[in-house]
Amino acid sequence: MQIKATHLLILISMLFMLGSISCKHDVSAVAGNGGSGNGGGSGGGTGGGTTCDTTKVYFQQQVLPILLSNCTMSGCHDVASHKEDVILTNYQYVMSTAGIRPGRPFDSEIYERIIDSDPRKRMPPSPNTSLTTQQQQLIYNWIQQGAQDLVCQDLCNTNSFTYSGAIKNIISNKCQGCHSGATPQGGIDLSTYNGVKSKADDGKLWGAINHLPGYSPMPKNGNKLSACELEQIQKWIAAGSLNN
Ligand code: HEC
Repeated sequence: MQIKATHLLILISMLFMLGSISCKHDVSAVAGNGGSGNGGGSGGGTGGGTTCDTTKVYFQQQVLPILLSNCTMSGCHDVASHKEDVILTNYQYVMSTAGIRPGRPFDSEIYERIIDSDPRKRMPPSPNTSLTTQQQQLIYNWIQQGAQDLVCQDLCNTNSFTYSGAIKNIISNKCQGCHSGATPQGGIDLSTYNGVKSKADDGKLWGAINHLPGYSPMPKNGNKLSACELEQIQKWIAAGSLNN
């Protein structure tokens, strides 16, 4: 009895250690997303209180922002336009309209379309830029893992606020779908460091993502960035908006 109880204790403390180690990882590099500390704010997802597992893909924090930034503008896959009857504004619509077969990315319409080599069939269609390979991989992994509606805490780390380590990922996944290409929305191109830096310098970046009066709230039609992401951007700006 005595020995068994000790073993159990050791096992439990090891599990705790594993949990805390995986959460201290800089997931932005692994998962390709700055993530969100509050579950995306839409009330979707299961297991809102669970700590993040860096091997898993979290739909609410990692996949949905990419879809909202790249696919759901007016005329495309928002509820009103529903091009080809596909709507990508929330988990339920994605699962019922985007041809997803959990566990089988190559049999899933959405994945086939984002990697299609024919620019007329590819989504987002030309002249929009294709998703980055990192974003494509994330969607592949999400379907492969069963296309679940997962959300977790602490995916974002406020101590990570360099441009390459955090800011670039947030912009890439939550803003760039609209703010890139030949005719970026609002005339604002956020696909390069210089583009982001100029909006940091004129105060519009901070005003827009904080929904301050006098600015257009960003990301347009999406959830406000999490408190952790706002803190990362605030710290980056305060440190001089460096290309670090
Ligand atoms: C779905 C498309 C879309 C997404 C996603 C999006 N934007 Fe915008 N953004 C726009 C449009 C359109 C405008 C022009 C103003 C308007 O129509 O609201 C704009 C304007 C802006 C402006 C100028 C605001 C002002 O008041 O002058 C900034 C700064 C900006 N966006 C930053 C961002 C950032 C940062 C993100 C990501 C966190 C983002 N946007 C995500 C479409 C988008």
